Amino acid sequence: MNWSQLFTSSIGKKIVMALTGIFLVVFLVVHCYVNANIFFSNAEENFNRAAHFMGTNILIRITELGLFAGFILHIFQGYKLTLLNRATRKSRYAVTAGNKTSKWYSRSMALLGTLILLFLIVHLAHFWVPSRFGGLKEVEYGGQVYHNLYGEMKDVFSQPWAVILYLLGCFSLAWHLLHGIQSAAQTLGWTNKNFMPMITNIGIVFSILVPAIFALMPVFMYFGWEINTGALTLLF
Ligand code: HEM
Repeated sequence: MNWSQLFTSSIGKKIVMALTGIFLVVFLVVHCYVNANIFFSNAEENFNRAAHFMGTNILIRITELGLFAGFILHIFQGYKLTLLNRATRKSRYAVTAGNKTSKWYSRSMALLGTLILLFLIVHLAHFWVPSRFGGLKEVEYGGQVYHNLYGEMKDVFSQPWAVILYLLGCFSLAWHLLHGIQSAAQTLGWTNKNFMPMITNIGIVFSILVPAIFALMPVFMYFGWEINTGALTLLF
């Protein structure tokens, strides 16, 4: 397969979806890990310092460009693949097989993806835009000035509608991942009899655990909860 077939053929599109999807999964792990600071003692300072590192480290800033390219490619190819699948299904069957042949979340990847996209647009407007283009309050730790992203989160998640929107976003993400990880494994040929059950199980645990941790963030913020770890700094 040559480069142009990656973007024009059906299997090429699936490979692009799988590879960009895996890249986005890695991003989710890092994002979740950094944000998890907000659950523990000294949350404000630990999270703001961690976010400052992520926002100013040159390697991470370069990776951020790759991240946005990955998102755009994943969304663009996803829509194209959905349209292609619909057209193929219509032309092959006079009577469609309906709901019996595939699971709901498998047939609804485009719908779930669109919900995640809407969530993402609101989410970037909440945090990424003020962080990169100005508008955040500042705090000082040890004589150095940091953006108070933690304070911004507190403000955003003091509004019940925002908490509900983020919970819906995380729920859509979980369903999208449940099918997406399986699908990526199949596309990339990770179907070995011995490894497949392990990949399936890891995929299921990941798809539930990571969105659940994300979903806890607005809830913790809204209720002002904190897990007391004393002076111990858990992350970063
Ligand atoms: C639900 C809990 C979440 C919270 C509290 C949260 C919080 C944040 C914050 C504070 C930032 C700004 C970081 C900075 O500018 O330094 C950010 C950036 C971002 N978030 Fe989230 N996030 C959550 C979930 C998600 C999910 C589920 C996704 C993806 C589906 C996501 C995708 C992104 C992206 C793409 C960025 C910009 C990347 C970057 O800073 O380079 N977030 N998030």
